[in-house]
This record gives sequence, structure tokens and C-alpha cells, in this order.
Amino acid sequence: MNINKETTVGVLGAGTMGSGIAQVAAAYGHKVILVDSDAEALERSKEKLAKVMARLIEKGKITSEDSESLQERIERTTSLPRFRECGFVVEAIIENLDIKKQIFSKMEDFVKDDTVIATNTSSLSIASISSAFRHPERFLGVHFFNPVPLMPLVEVIPSFITNQEIEENVYNLIKDWGKIPVLAKDTPGFIVNRVARPFYSEALRLLEEGIADVGTIDWAMKEIGGFRMGPFELMDYIGHDVNYVVTETIFKQFYYDPRFKPSISQLRLLEAGLLGRKSGRGFYDYSENAEEIIPFDDLELGTQIFGRILSMLINEACDAILMGVATPEDIELAMTKGVNYPQGLLSWCDEIGAEIILDTLKNLQTEYGEDRYRPNVLLKRMVREGKRFFG
Ligand SMILES: NC(=O)c1ccc[n+]([C@@H]2O[C@H](COP(=O)([O-])OP(=O)(O)OC[C@H]3O[C@@H](n4cnc5c(N)ncnc54)[C@H](O)[C@@H]3O)[C@@H](O)[C@H]2O)c1
Repeated sequence: MNINKETTVGVLGAGTMGSGIAQVAAAYGHKVILVDSDAEALERSKEKLAKVMARLIEKGKITSEDSESLQERIERTTSLPRFRECGFVVEAIIENLDIKKQIFSKMEDFVKDDTVIATNTSSLSIASISSAFRHPERFLGVHFFNPVPLMPLVEVIPSFITNQEIEENVYNLIKDWGKIPVLAKDTPGFIVNRVARPFYSEALRLLEEGIADVGTIDWAMKEIGGFRMGPFELMDYIGHDVNYVVTETIFKQFYYDPRFKPSISQLRLLEAGLLGRKSGRGFYDYSENAEEIIPFDDLELGTQIFGRILSMLINEACDAILMGVATPEDIELAMTKGVNYPQGLLSWCDEIGAEIILDTLKNLQTEYGEDRYRPNVLLKRMVREGKRFFG
């Protein structure tokens, strides 16, 4: 089946991600069938879209006619068999392997034989979900980022049995939707959630060792590194329930490689229910009378913090290339368009010099004697052969 504008698109799950995916598909012109087991979630999703559309009309970004027809193209229902008329279905329900497998196995009884089915999972393997299918060659991962209408990146993740034509068709469709697709291998965390781990974990390590406080580390990454948010601000924004669980899942899936070790300080916040912005307190206090945190804006310390976190990030990007997770070009796109890094990690490495990054990692490894800091073999080869990633 060739998926195009005439194809009816099904979206399962009307929460944060499913609502966004339905909006993007309807904006492109598809008829969309949005299914959720909870009728109230469907109602909330409808109301939220109406508000978003009203804002877009106000800003002059969409006409009221276009907004109306977009909203009319989305049918909302609790009936799974409505997917019978869909040529492409994207699932965005709760992140639970057994529940996802159960629903896919049921869904295959209703959909056409050539309907393409995708999951928006962040952390489960595509292969493990595909075991629920009688026809797993029609199934793949399409990982959107939150908020879906605004974030351009989509990771496309075929399993090793996904039909190649289907993979290409979905890749092109995502492009037609105005998004930037990157191709990722079915490995833990795909590209973004794998490569970005040290942004959080090395910041947490610096904090736990008492090298700097939360405000200073965030200051260093923003002022010296140019990142939009510091690691602690970002973890508070994502929520420690989500961020910690992603780290823990990736750690387990990598057979407890110390590079991905979760942090006890973050676990303690989670245990105490201090989830970040959404609970009013995480690393920062978001209450009205909260004391302002003033960073220790020492340039030398800041440069040391930034250099250490960036070197760990570049090391992880090298590993993703080495292990064939994605191409260097797609890794650059993933980190700049999926998590808004100010520059691609590999071009940053070229600019600073791979030998400086390697030296930073070697020094850390010698100092700590921990495998966590082992320089990636690709980075070592780049230095030995005097190579750059680009140009
Ligand atoms: N929130 C994010 O930032 C983000 C980013 C990328 C990927 N994801 C992934 O997207 C998926 C959805 O996440 P979310 O944040 O939108 O969740 P959410 O909790 O906002 O929404 C999930 C929706 O699925 C519905 N649902 C649950 N079980 C169902 C079932 N059996 N049948 C029908 N509907 C069911 C719920 O009623 C709810 O409306 C997860 O796999 C998550 O890992 C989330």
C-alpha cells in the first residue's frame, strides 16, 4: 500500500503525543481517526486542539476556514474497529510492552492486510513489540518529539523484519508532513535518547561530587555552551519520573554499561515526589517565594564543566556511529532538531579538535579509573588518522 494524502490515518491514544500526531496528519490533509479507550481523553484532546487553532488564527498563521476543515478531518471514537478504513496507524498509548502488544494483536483483526502500523514508543524495542504481529513486516517505529506540532524531528526505526518499501514510504510521508525524518537502528534510546544521556548524567555526577551546584552547572552549559536550557532545568521540565525511567531503561538494555548509570540523587527526588515543574519542585523550587539561585560564575570552572559534559556527549555520538545506529549527518540532525542543541556534536568535535576531546576523556579515565569515561574507539581512530567528521 502506498500511503499518500488520500490515505486515512489512524492514531491510537489521544494523550499528549497522539493528539499532536493527529493534528499534524490532519494539517497535511489526511482524514484522521483518533481512538482512545477513555472518552474523556478524546474530549480533552478536542478542546485542546480548538484552543491551539484559535491561537493560530489570532496570530494569522491559519485561516478560520482552514482551521475548521482541519478539525473536521479528525474523527474521535473509542471504537478500535474504526481503524478498518485506515492505511496507516500510529500508536501513542501508555509506555508498557504488554499493553502495546495486546492492543496490536487485537488491532490486526480489524485492519486491512496492507495497513502500515507504527509505534511512537520512546524506550521499548521495536523488535519486542513486533512479536505481537502476524505480519510484522508492516510494522516500524516513528518517534516524534514533544510538542509534536513544533518539534521537527522524527526518528524512523525499522525492525530487522520491516519491509524496506514500507520503511521508505513512511520516511517520505514524514517528510511530506513537514517533518525531518532520520533513520535509526532498533537499539536502546534510538539516537536522541541514547546520545543525550551524558547531558543529564555527567551534570548529576558533577553535582554529586560537589564540583559545582545546580545553578552553576546550568549557567555553564547555557552561557559557555550555548544550550537553551541547563541540564537541571531540562530534567525539571521533562519530569524526573520520565527522565529517570528513560535513563534506567537504557542502562538495563545496555547490560548495565557504567556509561549509562542512573543517579541516586535523581532517584531520591523521584522517590520524594519532587518531579520537577509539574509538581512545583525538583532541583529548583517553582513556588512564588522561592529563593533565587545565584550561580558561581567562574569562567574557569564553567569551562571545565562544559568541556567535561560536551566530551562525554561527543563520545556517545561517536559510539552511535561506530555501532551503526545512524549516519553522522542524521546524528547531527537528531541532536539539533530533536533536542535543540546549539550545534551538532560531530561538527563541534571538528571545531574544537578531536584530540582535545580525547585528552579530556583520557584524563577523566585516568583520574577516576572508571570504565564510564573510556574514550570511544572511533574517536581514538579519528585522532590517530588525523581525520574530521565533515569537510
Ligand atoms: N510525552 C512525551 O514527551 C513523549 C515523547 C516521545 C514519545 N512518547 C511516547 O508516546 C507514547 C504516549 O505518550 P504520551 O505522553 O502521549 O502519553 P499520555 O499519557 O499523554 O497519553 C496516552 C493516552 O493513551 C490512552 N490509552 C492508554 N491505554 C490505552 C488503550 N489500551 N487503548 C486505547 N487508548 C489507551 C490513554 O487514555 C491516554 O489518553 C508513549 O509510548 C511514550 O513513551 C512520549
